[in-house]
Amino acid sequence: MRLEETFYPFLSSLKTVDTFSPSLIRFQAEVDTLNLLKSRRSIRIYQDIPVPQDLILQILEAGRWAPTGANLQPWHFIVVKDPETRKRIGEVARFFFIKSPHVEKAPVLLVLGFDTRKGKYGRYDVTLAGGNMMTMAQSLGLGTCWIGAFDARRVKEILEIPEHIEVIALLTLGYPGEKPETPPRVELEKIVHWESWSNVRRRSFGDGMIRSGPFSLIKKFLKKRAKAPNNRHPIAEKPR
Ligand SMILES: Cc1cc2nc3c(=O)[nH]c(=O)nc-3n(C[C@H](O)[C@H](O)[C@H](O)COP(=O)(O)O)c2cc1C
Repeated sequence: MRLEETFYPFLSSLKTVDTFSPSLIRFQAEVDTLNLLKSRRSIRIYQDIPVPQDLILQILEAGRWAPTGANLQPWHFIVVKDPETRKRIGEVARFFFIKSPHVEKAPVLLVLGFDTRKGKYGRYDVTLAGGNMMTMAQSLGLGTCWIGAFDARRVKEILEIPEHIEVIALLTLGYPGEKPETPPRVELEKIVHWESWSNVRRRSFGDGMIRSGPFSLIKKFLKKRAKAPNNRHPIAEKPR
């Protein structure tokens, strides 16, 4: 069992965390945030239950607080609940011939766009807002799915969106009707580069120390050996 799993029930039961040390509070926040992020899944089946308006507003509010280049906030969010409009958008949400039926079935569709006249980072700004929205929805017990495969021109026509707005994504939103398996993620070791591109396999341990490099195995062996009683070979200590 991991350390946080041991302490988490205790930490979550604390009502007045502010009376405890900052490191405890930080620890709880880290556990909560990471768990929330890790437990989010793309939801493609929804229950036929409407999403309360105040929850939709909270999700939009979370989007509004994302950072933007030069604080230009070029985004526009279109909330679509009307079944007929969702059906029409569902028709144009497809990857070649593969349709995404959840676009039509989800009780709410959030259409994410930005004003192309406001700065040059609109696409990133809206993406960050979308990420906030997905996390907020997750914390409210709602499911989302980012939809990138759709005909943006047709969506703009359906929703009468003006020329200067670029639509980059649709977010389906609703109460989950499925509990999908967790898709794997590539290990950090394969995607993180420490200080320069070539240091992919080194691992930093938070204290800034890089402990495993090309000689790590030899170092580990020497350390173990130094600790072994009478400086004996560590393997010799293993029970036979
Ligand atoms: C840029 C982007 C485009 C995506 N497009 C679609 C899509 O068109 N249809 C869909 O069902 N899921 C889409 N997804 C969801 C991904 O398939 C999903 O995030 C990925 O498989 C990982 O699963 P998870 O979200 O449950 O962790 C998209 C996600 C992103 C970030």
